[in-house]
Amino acid sequence: MQYQLHELAHLFPPMSEEEFLELKSDIKRNGLLESIVLYQGEIIDGRHRYKACEELGIEAEFEEYEGDAPAGYVVSKNMMRRNLNSSQKATVAVDMLPFFEEEAKIRMSLGGQGTQKIADLGEARQQVADAFGTNRQYVSDAKKLKEENPEAFDAVKRGEMNLHQVAKEARKKERKARILEEADGVKTDFERYEDLGWELPIYNIWNYGSKDTAFGQKHFGNIPPQVVSNLLYLYTKEGDLVYDPFVGGGMTLDVCKYFNRECLGYDLTPVRDDIMQHDIADGLPEIRQPKLIFLDPPYWQQAKEKYSDKETDLGNVDISDFYKTLDSLFANLEKFKGSTIALIIGMNKRDGKWIDLPFGVNQLMSKRFKFLNRVIVPYSTQVHGGAFVKQAQDKRELLYLYRDLLIYVL
Ligand SMILES: C[S@@+](CC[C@H](N)C(=O)[O-])C[C@H]1O[C@@H](n2cnc3c(N)ncnc32)[C@H](O)[C@@H]1O
Repeated sequence: MQYQLHELAHLFPPMSEEEFLELKSDIKRNGLLESIVLYQGEIIDGRHRYKACEELGIEAEFEEYEGDAPAGYVVSKNMMRRNLNSSQKATVAVDMLPFFEEEAKIRMSLGGQGTQKIADLGEARQQVADAFGTNRQYVSDAKKLKEENPEAFDAVKRGEMNLHQVAKEARKKERKARILEEADGVKTDFERYEDLGWELPIYNIWNYGSKDTAFGQKHFGNIPPQVVSNLLYLYTKEGDLVYDPFVGGGMTLDVCKYFNRECLGYDLTPVRDDIMQHDIADGLPEIRQPKLIFLDPPYWQQAKEKYSDKETDLGNVDISDFYKTLDSLFANLEKFKGSTIALIIGMNKRDGKWIDLPFGVNQLMSKRFKFLNRVIVPYSTQVHGGAFVKQAQDKRELLYLYRDLLIYVL
């Protein structure tokens, strides 16, 4: 006879494939040590044991749950065995809440009256929180999430993210929406910096630990948006045109929008509708003279095949083609006399040796343009994992921690 799962047994997330295989091989070795528990003719505890027995062709043993608090029973059984994080517990608690309330109502109808009834319902909420070893606030956060964003709730339940991460993502999204909404207002650059809580650039080291994700979408090559806003502040005015041929996740477009500059963003592999497709190896697109040209090309093969597998992707070409393409780009840009050009690039390691791309690119640029400035843009130290730090210490080597921003006038 085939048994159905009781709805209570569905509320805990299923075991991972790995956990299930472990359970199955344990049952194969030692037999079924704990019976499968039925309630009203359906399985309320032991769905994985039941499935394992079926797959192994072992006859399962059953017993009947005879208490009057099946929800509490399911929680205590699962909490003992399952290794759930506190966010997962809160999501299961939310799904369990109606069952706890139902059980409280039944108890009420058997005894309590008046204010006792209300106390019993409140007690159900406390009971569910206690049963899961969590607090009522955490359960209410999960409840709100289920109502507002059921997909994220399910992801939390599966253990793919926690409540804290979901809340952080939501705050980021809200901020992004607000920032882009505010972009239409009339404000000075100074006011906009203040609104964002960003510092105006004063020194020539632009160190921005974490990237502000309100600008541009997640992209392998993301750089801090302050690099672009500082260039706008230093070298452009409201309404000026900015050209970015390697716009990646669209950060330059968003920063320009926010600071009220016009922007033309191109990329070999566009990831957004407002990014135009253009391969810089085919020459310049038809554009009018920009005030600022911002270049954030791949740092040669540091990101090999990370942006695309296309042959002309500057992350995939060999080093001589890398320099050749950039040099012909510089030659094509020479016609924009008086514009500012800023290029950000870092060194690359190949066969244990450093390739000084900033130095190489500077040689090409200074042949054609007038040097204006050079800014150091550090990476966060977190780019180097513990193993790399240890390896560098063992070998007495330095880890690389910055990019050069090279600025010239055409
Ligand atoms: C370092 S990423 C730019 C990241 C961007 N600044 C951001 O913050 O999101 C370099 C970009 O250059 C693009 N790219 C590579 N080769 C190209 C080519 N030949 N023509 C145009 N774009 C190219 C890549 O697709 C990638 O998006």
